[in-house]
Amino acid sequence: MEEGEIIEEFTAKDGRSFLIRVPTLEDTREYLNFINELVRENTWIEENKEQTYESEEAYMKDKIEKIVSGNEISLAAFYNGKLVADADIIRGHGRAFSTGSFAIAVLNGYRDAGLGTELMKLILDKAKEAGYRIITLGVYGDNARAMHLYEKFGFVKAGIIPKYAYFEGKGFVDAITLYKILQE
Ligand SMILES: CC(C)(COP(=O)(O)OP(=O)(O)OC[C@H]1O[C@@H](n2cnc3c(N)ncnc32)[C@H](O)[C@@H]1OP(=O)(O)O)[C@@H](O)C(=O)NCCC(=O)NCCS
Repeated sequence: MEEGEIIEEFTAKDGRSFLIRVPTLEDTREYLNFINELVRENTWIEENKEQTYESEEAYMKDKIEKIVSGNEISLAAFYNGKLVADADIIRGHGRAFSTGSFAIAVLNGYRDAGLGTELMKLILDKAKEAGYRIITLGVYGDNARAMHLYEKFGFVKAGIIPKYAYFEGKGFVDAITLYKILQE
């Protein structure tokens, strides 16, 4: 997978068209705006603090290095140049090299139009091609939409960690670990 590689133009259920491609270091400002919008929304992501340009640049350098060395699959979706969704699979360390850890987020205003489903389909195909055997992910217990998406793709529950994370306004929330076997 190459930095900036264009994967496809995707037309969502609402008629909007998204460019899906591999990110580059030049996308740092977009990634910064993206994460900070999700943090301010107080949505179902682990991060709860707004990032600075410097911290995001360090995150992006690491991300691009992993992508070019084959240790990460990363897809970004843009609407008129604005980053609105991101999905990635990060390779496990050492003996866990054929296990990938998946994460996804779509900005508010772009959800429920099929973008998450499309990114998931694309990234799981790429993971299979790359030889990954198992994909794991974590979802918060009250995130019904994400759970629906993952079950639609055949992910099954490995277990629940009660009161794993704290959210302003709703308190402690369970974390559920899911996995999917891509190939034996
Ligand atoms: C979860 C998320 C990635 C899904 O992406 P998306 O683009 O909204 O997903 P899609 O439009 O492809 O699919 C959403 C599906 O959930 C369904 N859905 C929506 N709200 C739902 C709810 N409250 N309960 C159950 N299903 C729900 C939709 O009907 C749709 O179902 P379908 O594919 O069977 O028609 C996205 O909404 C998001 O980023 N949310 C905020 C952050 C987050 O939750 N990240 C995941 C962390 S684990």
